[in-house]
Amino acid sequence: EKGGYATYMEKEIFDQPQAVADTLLGRSNAAGDLQLDDLRISEEQLAAVDRVTIVACGTAAYAGMVAKYAIEHWARIPVEVSLAHEFRYCDPIADEKTLVVSISQSGETMDTLMAVKHAHDLGALTLSICNTHGSTIPRESDAVLYTHAGPEIAVASTKAFLGQITACYILGLYLAQLKGGSYADDAKQVIAELQDVPSKIADVLSDVSRVREVARFMADTRSVLFLGRHVGYPIAMEGALKLKELAYIHAEGFAAGELKHGPIALIEPGQPVFVIVPGPDTPHGLHGKVVSNIQEIRARGARTLVIAEEGDTSVDEFADEVFRIPHTSPMLQPLLTVLPLQVFALELSTAKGLDVDQPRNLAKSVTVE
Ligand code: M6R
Repeated sequence: EKGGYATYMEKEIFDQPQAVADTLLGRSNAAGDLQLDDLRISEEQLAAVDRVTIVACGTAAYAGMVAKYAIEHWARIPVEVSLAHEFRYCDPIADEKTLVVSISQSGETMDTLMAVKHAHDLGALTLSICNTHGSTIPRESDAVLYTHAGPEIAVASTKAFLGQITACYILGLYLAQLKGGSYADDAKQVIAELQDVPSKIADVLSDVSRVREVARFMADTRSVLFLGRHVGYPIAMEGALKLKELAYIHAEGFAAGELKHGPIALIEPGQPVFVIVPGPDTPHGLHGKVVSNIQEIRARGARTLVIAEEGDTSVDEFADEVFRIPHTSPMLQPLLTVLPLQVFALELSTAKGLDVDQPRNLAKSVTVE
């Protein structure tokens, strides 16, 4: 069942081109427009939505953070992301024009389920992004958008995360399409570009030997930091979570812009820091700002492990290691930048002789509050 791989997690990492392709499959028509026939919610209801609140836990919440950037940019609807266990107790504001989107691989996470029920009681419209057919959360929601990542067995989420991000993109682009005009035109371009992403994921995964080597040499490392900006920020958080879960190493993800507001004090000679570099064409000069961050931490002795686009030579001078990803439009980059981080955590866990598929103290689905 592990398809020749040593662990489920490794198999699931390498399943990711398929997971994304299957999540996209059958959701656009010949004209390149999204068609979400299985959504169980009318276009009129969705078109009336004036606020989106995303509820999720753990890795699924990081998919939700990516969704915030994407939905706000494409559909110009305000999006809030709330950890499901916080949402319920913070007296949330929601009404019938609020779309509460839950994201859950298992569809059984109690915290997320309770948030959905609470949203329902407030009169909000609830939509579940879920990987498990027939599970509780989609059953309790008004609408459902299934991710088709296939069964995920390893406790640490990988392919379900990519499926979740893909489904969030589909939702954001669909909301943009419903708005019509230039929103719909722009969405159409992204929908077309998304079709090329599975082969780019396969490209990255076809050569991860250097990430594996670097990880193996770091088995004694006690702390790793992750920096990202814009959609790279949730990916930095996800890279850190994977490392905590799988290798029991202290890890923290930061928004790169926060560096000088505190975390830079952590940098001492030899401190490993992963940096996710936005593509050079990212708006607002973010690429240059992140390259400057690499320079700043390198000057203080950090060991810089950089994830950057192919052909982006601006990072070479300040990087101890560069892991390359193919070019995509900035919003889609998370589907690629997370890959080296997943492989890094997998390999480091293996190098430490730990149980990759069943890390200590964790359960695949957390069915208690
Ligand atoms: O099944 P869910 O997506 O609702 O699970 C949410 C989290 O418990 C889950 O993503 C957790 O953080 C994973 N262990 C991450 O690898």
